Amino acid sequence: MKKDLIFQQLFDAETFTYTYLLADAVSKEAILIDTVIENVDRDLKLIDELGLNLTIVLDTHIHADHVTGSGKIRSLRGVKTAVPIKSNIACADLNLSEGDEIKFGAFTIQVLETPGHTDASISFICEDMVFTGDALLIRGTGRTDFQSGSSSDLYDSITKKLFSLPKQTVIYPGHDYKGFTTSTIELEMKHNPRLDGGRSKAEFIKIMNDLKLAYPKKIDEALPANQACGSVSLGKADTEYKTVSAQEAKAQLREVFIIDVRGPDEFHDELGHIAGAHQVTLGPELNSFLEGCDRQKNIFFVCRSGQRSATASNIAIQMGFQKVSHLGGGMISWNQNKFAIEK
Ligand SMILES: [Fe+2]
Repeated sequence: MKKDLIFQQLFDAETFTYTYLLADAVSKEAILIDTVIENVDRDLKLIDELGLNLTIVLDTHIHADHVTGSGKIRSLRGVKTAVPIKSNIACADLNLSEGDEIKFGAFTIQVLETPGHTDASISFICEDMVFTGDALLIRGTGRTDFQSGSSSDLYDSITKKLFSLPKQTVIYPGHDYKGFTTSTIELEMKHNPRLDGGRSKAEFIKIMNDLKLAYPKKIDEALPANQACGSVSLGKADTEYKTVSAQEAKAQLREVFIIDVRGPDEFHDELGHIAGAHQVTLGPELNSFLEGCDRQKNIFFVCRSGQRSATASNIAIQMGFQKVSHLGGGMISWNQNKFAIEK
């Protein structure tokens, strides 16, 4: 592990889930893998204590046993969320597939598709570590009996993909139920009882079929919430933001403070921007900008399609702003109505 990599393995004692914090000690950029909604405050406090700047929250798969913290963290911090592309989660910012790379500072995470526990599961490789989600656990594997799981696919993911990694690669799983924290590819090749030093696929499938596991406790709550990016009520703010159409927005432009939360390049691209809009990029820049604003200000967020502006609205509401609205459909809708733009 390089010396500038900050790494923390965090644990959820109720669901035995591991959450991982990785950050570049120099640039301070941080990412989180597999968060749990109940632990969001703990994770964000740690990130603040370490002086880090969280940029992306990743999920290895759509969890059935806990609600992801990604949606809540996105609402609170304006970060991006990332899920496997095959999970078809429309509300995520990034949809990851084999070979994709995610950067944080000088470090890179590589995406490896490892289906089987679910049909969309992915693993993340960073330096000499692999984050296997529920594909490969320590002396075990994820179950394959729901969420379009497949024992045959899981066997291939483990034996052909994960076991092809360098033998000393350290495994960080999505869960552990026995108190283990890490393993290595070499140790699991030798000692994982479900693979047992070279079991055939047929033997593996029989073992998985014979497991007869209990139905996951939280699945009825967790799956729908996770398909909506972990969307559950934050239960804090008593105000709500308004989604305003392009026509309504045009009529009230003089009364609002317009904040365009796209990046500077997009602000000047072919969709242009609304005259008088202030460009403040969603993320840390917007957060610190809002910190210094009067909470009574009538603020109106704009982005390309209305998704980032909705996130910005959520952040503003959580910060105590009373009058918050955003442009539904974003600059795409504004342009479709042929309203004036500046470039
Ligand atoms: Fe899982």
